Amino acid sequence: MRPELTVLLTSEQIQDRVEQLGREISRDYPDGPLYLIGILKGSFLFLADLARAISTPCRVEFMGISSYGRGKRSSGEVKVTKDLDVSVEGFDVLVVEDIIDSGVTLTYLLNVLEQRKPKSLGIVTMLDKPERRQRPVRPAYVGFRVPDEFVVGYGLDFAEDYRNLKDVCVLHDGPAV
Ligand code: IMP
Ligand code: MG
Repeated sequence: MRPELTVLLTSEQIQDRVEQLGREISRDYPDGPLYLIGILKGSFLFLADLARAISTPCRVEFMGISSYGRGKRSSGEVKVTKDLDVSVEGFDVLVVEDIIDSGVTLTYLLNVLEQRKPKSLGIVTMLDKPERRQRPVRPAYVGFRVPDEFVVGYGLDFAEDYRNLKDVCVLHDGPAV
Protein backbone atom coordinates (compact mmCIF):
# COMPACT_ATOMS: atom_id res chain seq x y z
CA MET A 1 0.00 0.00 0.00
CA ARG A 2 1.25 3.50 -0.80
CA PRO A 3 2.09 5.57 2.30
CA GLU A 4 -0.16 8.56 2.86
CA LEU A 5 0.64 11.68 4.86
CA THR A 6 -1.73 13.94 6.77
CA VAL A 7 -0.50 17.14 8.39
CA LEU A 8 -0.63 17.04 12.19
CA LEU A 9 1.38 20.18 13.02
CA THR A 10 2.09 22.93 10.51
CA SER A 11 5.45 24.58 10.28
CA GLU A 12 3.85 27.82 11.60
CA GLN A 13 2.56 26.01 14.71
CA ILE A 14 5.97 24.43 15.20
CA GLN A 15 7.86 27.71 14.82
CA ASP A 16 5.57 29.51 17.30
CA ARG A 17 6.00 26.77 19.86
CA VAL A 18 9.77 26.64 19.39
CA GLU A 19 9.94 30.40 20.04
CA GLN A 20 7.96 29.93 23.28
CA LEU A 21 10.19 27.07 24.40
CA GLY A 22 13.24 29.19 23.67
CA ARG A 23 11.92 31.99 25.85
CA GLU A 24 11.13 29.58 28.73
CA ILE A 25 14.55 27.96 28.54
CA SER A 26 16.31 31.36 28.39
CA ARG A 27 14.40 32.41 31.51
CA ASP A 28 15.11 29.14 33.38
CA TYR A 29 18.82 29.15 32.51
CA PRO A 30 19.86 32.81 32.72
CA ASP A 31 23.57 31.94 33.01
CA GLY A 32 25.44 30.13 30.30
CA PRO A 33 27.00 28.20 29.00
CA LEU A 34 24.13 25.79 28.51
CA TYR A 35 24.98 22.58 26.72
CA LEU A 36 22.35 21.55 24.18
CA ILE A 37 22.88 17.89 23.32
CA GLY A 38 21.01 16.96 20.16
CA ILE A 39 20.20 13.32 19.67
CA LEU A 40 20.94 12.37 16.07
CA LYS A 41 19.42 12.37 13.70
CA GLY A 42 15.82 13.23 14.47
CA SER A 43 16.49 16.36 16.52
CA PHE A 44 18.61 18.20 13.93
CA LEU A 45 15.97 20.67 12.73
CA PHE A 46 14.41 21.19 16.16
CA LEU A 47 17.85 21.84 17.66
CA ALA A 48 18.75 24.28 14.88
CA ASP A 49 15.57 26.31 15.46
CA LEU A 50 15.58 26.00 19.25
CA ALA A 51 19.21 27.10 19.61
CA ARG A 52 18.37 30.32 17.74
CA ALA A 53 15.34 30.92 19.99
CA ILE A 54 17.46 30.73 23.19
CA SER A 55 19.22 33.92 24.32
CA THR A 56 21.41 32.21 26.95
CA PRO A 57 24.89 31.42 25.60
CA CYS A 58 24.75 27.80 24.39
CA ARG A 59 27.17 25.14 23.30
CA VAL A 60 25.93 22.53 20.86
CA GLU A 61 26.92 18.87 20.94
CA PHE A 62 25.47 15.75 19.39
CA MET A 63 25.08 12.16 20.44
CA GLY A 64 23.99 9.26 18.32
CA ILE A 65 21.75 6.58 19.81
CA SER A 66 20.24 3.74 17.88
CA SER A 67 17.23 1.77 19.00
CA TYR A 68 14.88 1.50 16.06
CA GLY A 69 16.51 -0.01 13.01
CA ARG A 70 14.17 0.33 10.06
CA GLY A 71 10.90 -0.47 11.82
CA LYS A 72 8.20 1.65 13.37
CA ARG A 73 8.75 0.24 16.87
CA SER A 74 11.78 0.34 19.09
CA SER A 75 13.86 -2.81 18.98
CA GLY A 76 14.41 -2.27 22.72
CA GLU A 77 18.16 -2.55 22.18
CA VAL A 78 19.86 0.80 22.71
CA LYS A 79 23.44 1.69 21.90
CA VAL A 80 25.54 4.83 21.70
CA THR A 81 26.71 5.19 18.09
CA LYS A 82 28.33 8.62 18.58
CA ASP A 83 29.50 9.88 21.96
CA LEU A 84 30.19 13.42 23.17
CA ASP A 85 33.54 14.93 22.22
CA VAL A 86 33.70 17.03 25.40
CA SER A 87 33.28 16.74 29.16
CA VAL A 88 30.03 18.22 30.48
CA GLU A 89 31.06 17.88 34.12
CA GLY A 90 29.76 20.83 36.14
CA PHE A 91 27.67 22.28 33.28
CA ASP A 92 23.95 22.68 32.76
CA VAL A 93 22.89 20.15 30.14
CA LEU A 94 19.67 19.92 28.15
CA VAL A 95 19.12 16.83 26.02
CA VAL A 96 17.25 17.81 22.85
CA GLU A 97 15.02 15.02 21.49
CA ASP A 98 12.65 14.80 18.56
CA ILE A 99 10.08 12.55 20.22
CA ILE A 100 9.68 10.46 23.36
CA ASP A 101 7.75 7.26 22.78
CA SER A 102 8.42 4.31 25.10
CA GLY A 103 11.10 6.29 26.96
CA VAL A 104 13.56 3.40 26.58
CA THR A 105 16.10 5.45 24.61
CA LEU A 106 16.14 8.40 26.99
CA THR A 107 16.23 6.26 30.14
CA TYR A 108 19.39 4.67 28.82
CA LEU A 109 20.86 7.99 27.69
CA LEU A 110 20.14 9.77 30.98
CA ASN A 111 21.95 7.02 32.86
CA VAL A 112 24.97 7.48 30.60
CA LEU A 113 24.92 11.28 31.02
CA GLU A 114 24.40 11.22 34.82
CA GLN A 115 27.75 9.46 35.07
CA ARG A 116 29.38 12.49 33.39
CA LYS A 117 28.39 14.59 36.47
CA PRO A 118 26.65 17.58 34.87
CA LYS A 119 25.51 20.38 37.18
CA SER A 120 21.96 19.74 35.96
CA LEU A 121 20.41 17.43 33.40
CA GLY A 122 17.09 18.17 31.71
CA ILE A 123 15.17 17.09 28.64
CA VAL A 124 13.48 19.14 25.96
CA THR A 125 11.49 17.17 23.40
CA MET A 126 9.60 18.53 20.46
CA LEU A 127 6.99 15.77 20.61
CA ASP A 128 5.75 13.50 23.37
CA LYS A 129 3.60 10.37 23.05
CA PRO A 130 2.83 9.85 26.75
CA GLU A 131 0.35 6.99 26.09
CA ARG A 132 3.18 4.75 24.91
CA ARG A 133 5.47 5.25 27.88
CA GLN A 134 7.11 2.13 29.33
CA ARG A 135 9.71 3.99 31.41
CA PRO A 136 9.02 7.02 33.62
CA VAL A 137 10.77 9.78 31.66
CA ARG A 138 9.64 13.31 32.51
CA PRO A 139 10.76 15.98 30.06
CA ALA A 140 11.06 19.49 31.50
CA TYR A 141 9.91 21.01 28.18
CA VAL A 142 7.52 19.50 25.64
CA GLY A 143 6.64 21.11 22.33
CA PHE A 144 3.47 19.12 21.63
CA ARG A 145 1.75 16.04 23.03
CA VAL A 146 0.79 13.82 20.10
CA PRO A 147 -1.51 10.80 19.81
CA ASP A 148 -0.26 7.25 19.37
CA GLU A 149 0.38 7.55 15.64
CA PHE A 150 3.58 7.22 13.67
CA VAL A 151 4.72 10.70 12.72
CA VAL A 152 7.33 11.97 10.28
CA GLY A 153 8.75 15.30 9.17
CA TYR A 154 10.65 18.18 10.83
CA GLY A 155 13.54 15.79 11.42
CA LEU A 156 11.55 12.62 12.09
CA ASP A 157 11.93 9.76 9.65
CA PHE A 158 10.50 6.49 8.58
CA ALA A 159 13.40 4.35 7.32
CA GLU A 160 15.37 7.59 6.71
CA ASP A 161 12.69 9.21 4.53
CA TYR A 162 10.60 12.35 5.22
CA ARG A 163 13.06 14.13 7.53
CA ASN A 164 13.00 17.31 5.41
CA LEU A 165 9.23 17.91 5.54
CA LYS A 166 8.45 21.28 7.12
CA ASP A 167 5.29 19.99 8.82
CA VAL A 168 4.90 17.06 11.19
CA CYS A 169 2.67 14.52 9.45
CA VAL A 170 1.03 11.23 10.38
CA LEU A 171 2.21 8.38 8.17
CA HIS A 172 -0.69 6.07 7.31
CA ASP A 173 -0.51 2.66 5.68
CA GLY A 174 3.25 2.57 5.69
CA PRO A 175 4.99 -0.58 4.58
CA ALA A 176 4.50 -3.44 7.05
CA VAL A 177 7.37 -3.95 9.50
P1 IMP B 1 11.67 5.52 22.59
O1 IMP B 1 12.92 4.87 23.06
O2 IMP B 1 10.59 4.48 22.33
O3 IMP B 1 11.16 6.63 23.47
O4 IMP B 1 11.97 6.05 21.14
C1 IMP B 1 12.46 7.28 20.90
C2 IMP B 1 12.99 7.38 19.50
O5 IMP B 1 12.24 6.60 18.58
C3 IMP B 1 12.83 8.79 19.01
O6 IMP B 1 13.96 9.55 19.30
C4 IMP B 1 12.62 8.61 17.52
O7 IMP B 1 13.87 8.57 16.87
C5 IMP B 1 11.95 7.28 17.39
N1 IMP B 1 10.48 7.42 17.25
C6 IMP B 1 9.53 7.18 18.18
N2 IMP B 1 8.29 7.43 17.72
C7 IMP B 1 8.47 7.86 16.45
C8 IMP B 1 7.55 8.32 15.43
O8 IMP B 1 6.31 8.40 15.57
N3 IMP B 1 8.12 8.71 14.25
C9 IMP B 1 9.46 8.67 14.02
N4 IMP B 1 10.35 8.27 14.95
C10 IMP B 1 9.86 7.86 16.15
MG1 MG C 1 15.55 9.91 18.01
